[in-house]
Amino acid sequence: MATEEPFSLIIFGASGDLTKRKLMPALWSLYAARVLPEPFAIVAVARTGMSHDEFRRRVREAIVEFARIQPPSDLVWERFASALFYLSGDPNDLALYPKLDRLLAETEAARGRHANRLFYCATPPSLYEPIVRNLGAAALAGEPSGWTRIVVEKPFGRDLESARALNRQLAAVFREEQVYRIDHYLGKETVQNILVFRFANGIFEPLWNRNHVAQVQITVAESLGVETRGAYYEESGALRDMLQNHMLQLLCLIAMESPVTFDAAPVRDEKNKVLAAIRPIDPAKLDEAAVRGQYGPGFAEGKRVPGYREEKGVAPDSRTETYVALRLLVDNWRWAGVPFYLRTGKRLAKRVSEIAIQFRRTPHMIFRRHPAGADSNTLVIRIQPDEGIGLTVAAKTPGPELKLGSVGLDFRYGDVYGGQPPEAYERLLLDAIHGDATLYARGDWVEQAWAILAPVLGAWAQDPTAPFPNYEAGTWGPGDADAFIARDGGAWRQP
Ligand SMILES: NC(=O)c1ccc[n+]([C@@H]2O[C@H](COP(=O)([O-])OP(=O)(O)OC[C@H]3O[C@@H](n4cnc5c(N)ncnc54)[C@H](OP(=O)(O)O)[C@@H]3O)[C@@H](O)[C@H]2O)c1
Repeated sequence: MATEEPFSLIIFGASGDLTKRKLMPALWSLYAARVLPEPFAIVAVARTGMSHDEFRRRVREAIVEFARIQPPSDLVWERFASALFYLSGDPNDLALYPKLDRLLAETEAARGRHANRLFYCATPPSLYEPIVRNLGAAALAGEPSGWTRIVVEKPFGRDLESARALNRQLAAVFREEQVYRIDHYLGKETVQNILVFRFANGIFEPLWNRNHVAQVQITVAESLGVETRGAYYEESGALRDMLQNHMLQLLCLIAMESPVTFDAAPVRDEKNKVLAAIRPIDPAKLDEAAVRGQYGPGFAEGKRVPGYREEKGVAPDSRTETYVALRLLVDNWRWAGVPFYLRTGKRLAKRVSEIAIQFRRTPHMIFRRHPAGADSNTLVIRIQPDEGIGLTVAAKTPGPELKLGSVGLDFRYGDVYGGQPPEAYERLLLDAIHGDATLYARGDWVEQAWAILAPVLGAWAQDPTAPFPNYEAGTWGPGDADAFIARDGGAWRQP
């Protein structure tokens, strides 16, 4: 077992869904894989009354249901469970924090080592600021004999103003180096691989620019609707829920220059430069930059499904978008004139996340007189499902006639590495414990991302004429989105 870094992890909101489905299964998998530093204590905090043993029982159930690695023996499980503690209390209440400090001090004294503490906000977002304020007021944000860090879950604000306010509250209590704003997309294996693919191979980077790339399409499509999260989604919508965070991060990874080293500061500096180069969206020409949609009734996997406005927790006249497509331009030397199309939506035809880099056609086609069937070369980074990377190239189809077709050169994670890849939360939790913020969002990045989208959010909020619903569940989104990309002479990929 790793023993170099004893730590305490304190999870606020630990009776919730995220802790059950993601955090505890990830921590267990790290422990079972023998990479979680020891000794450690995990202190779960929430209002629900529960004993330590009751919490341990719940965690075991969650692990059996959701973890990548199953408990190999009762002995290993018992060792893990003995490091789990539960403290009942309201994170809004300052009186909770001295109790928390005492419990932490007891577990730390038993370990006889430094007090390294990682706080984790896994509560509804309205609690992030009170938790930070209370940690400051209770003098728990300092670093008297070890490190202290805080992980803040998404969403980080709901617009530029609220993100700034949360950053200000964090900065009043913590140093920026102590703050870890999580974006679980950045922990996905395929997303981490983007920079390795780009900067550990010599052959792609010379092509990675406006001279060779015609356009980039980033798709995050979900086949599910809003399920039980209608009330949450009403306040959010596709632009806030997916595009402001995950998809702009993907765009940055594709468009950024090579950082000097793979470390937090240079990587995050380069990402900020990409956002700084994005051409501001002109609200007067919003139709050229953005399309929104909302699903009506339709079919998913052969079954009839309701429209968004019929979902539980959704207003019957809701104007919340469940689909958004954006066209962004990165105004710098490398990308001038190359459109980046981003689209995401719920109840689309298929669950798929991918980045497609479409290269320019050959300058002169010598096979003009022959039936053409070859598409332009496209490099597709598949994030989920069927994780991998594919490149379409033109080839002669077999036969006496000269016919062209497209074939794929394909790398599939599953075929090469087998097994189930680690969960994003495993990598990200381990990074926070080790003090590596490379895969976390910096405060200024988050604010820049909100600033880019502010004209769209503002214009949509003020326009009561959204023609919703405007796409059928189970399709590829509104017809307007096709017309939108066709204006540039392009078409959406059908992954
Ligand atoms: N669930 C996911 O898969 C997921 C994925 C990505 C990000 N996130 C983010 O992670 C955070 C946690 O998600 P979650 O789904 O676990 O949330 P959740 O289940 O709604 O809430 C977590 C816990 O917070 C406590 N809580 C709720 N309202 C409270 C209030 N008004 N005052 C004090 N405590 C309150 C509740 O515990 P008690 O009632 O016991 O206090 C609840 O169990 C959210 O910000 C979410 O956006 C979640």
